[in-house]
Amino acid sequence: MTTATTALDQEIQVYAQANPASAKLNERAKKSLPGGDSRNSIWWKPFPVYIARGQGSTMTDVDGNERVDFISNMTTLILGHRHPAVIEAVEAQVDRGLSYPAPAELVIEWAEIICERIPSVEKIRFVNSGTEATLNAIRAARAFTGRQKIVKAEAGYHGAHEDVAVSVSPSIDEAGDELEPNALHDYEGISDRVLSTTIVIPFNRPEAAEAIIRANGDEIAAVIIEPVIGRLGMLPANPEFLQRLRDVTKELGIVLIFDEVISLRISSGGSQEYFGITPDMTAMGKIIGGGLPVGAFGGKDEIMALFDPESGPRVKHAGTFNGNPMTAAAGIATLKSMTPELFEQIGTNGEKVREKLRSLISDREAPMGVTGIESLFSLQFTNEQVVDYRSLESADQTLAAHMFIGMLNEGYTLSPQCAGNISSAITDDQIDGFVDAVGRVLERAGYG
Ligand SMILES: Cc1ncc(COP(=O)(O)O)c(C=O)c1O
Repeated sequence: MTTATTALDQEIQVYAQANPASAKLNERAKKSLPGGDSRNSIWWKPFPVYIARGQGSTMTDVDGNERVDFISNMTTLILGHRHPAVIEAVEAQVDRGLSYPAPAELVIEWAEIICERIPSVEKIRFVNSGTEATLNAIRAARAFTGRQKIVKAEAGYHGAHEDVAVSVSPSIDEAGDELEPNALHDYEGISDRVLSTTIVIPFNRPEAAEAIIRANGDEIAAVIIEPVIGRLGMLPANPEFLQRLRDVTKELGIVLIFDEVISLRISSGGSQEYFGITPDMTAMGKIIGGGLPVGAFGGKDEIMALFDPESGPRVKHAGTFNGNPMTAAAGIATLKSMTPELFEQIGTNGEKVREKLRSLISDREAPMGVTGIESLFSLQFTNEQVVDYRSLESADQTLAAHMFIGMLNEGYTLSPQCAGNISSAITDDQIDGFVDAVGRVLERAGYG
């Protein structure tokens, strides 16, 4: 009988044999980059595949393997690779120049589209990553309230800066009470200061979260939350949880920040429109830049006025590439192509994938589940219904690793945690092919 680990070893062997040119590049990369890597979220064992080209719904690697892309640069490429409207807009901007030491009109149009669509965004500022977006939103909340502490959920990911590199993937042994989680450094090098200024609440537990917020009420500047939480498998928050956060923050004068870096793709107005709950500020990224580096933060006029240069500004905000015309061009072309029909199409396809996967998993009696909303989905590797970080404790990591590598061998890309999403380039046949491939990997993992 094959054990789960030997089945995984065999899958990895197949992978290594099919990707010799990537293996070779990885060896070269290791000489100048630690572990060959510059972005931990796209590194995996034994080595990642190196991409030569993306087109529509597929990517081809340096070994010539073509795969259907179900992760779209971590949810970014909502129109697929090299969408004609985006390429045309970028090429037109190349002709006009890559970046300028003065503003360009395009940036106003970009800002107008987002302010018009996203309910909480009366004014907006552009940056170059989701990390900078949450950093500046938190800074604005501190300046606006005159308070220092912030609140985030256990497992919430808001980028790679000090205040939020807390309890994203804490060890359960050290994480403390599930209703009153400890704040733990997520990795080495983070300032100890954040352990007294970042407070952690359990995701999806309205009573417990409210009690923690009330206990620290007059010291809290901001509550930052992902309405659809990536780390837990594109899991939508219960609307009651979000509403409770909205109510208690309003009452206590705390700035509520929705981190919509991923969730903006669930409807034209983001998850705030979808759930009908409007935060004070919103952090954005990924889709709004059409595939180029991007971030943005926006919100109520009275908060965003802190950045107005005419009045000081009270909060300084510079950046050589902020609001750069190349990203603006790609962003505008993408946002304009994202019509209500497009959101409907990718949302329906997302539901189709989830339904088909659920039925496959139940037929095979695999210890798995499926989470997600609209165009976002994720495989879960536990029988338990996932509602918060602690529900992932029983997840079968070997099966998860097998599924990820197995799907690459089958010609499909997911995130290393087996989350995925639908771009408008994905076809019905590709969805059927994807689900069949999950079935074949399950068979090789012992769930035939
Ligand atoms: C919810 C959320 N916030 C913030 C970020 C950080 O964005 P970036 O990687 O552009 O810095 C991410 C990245 O995946 C994210 O998923």
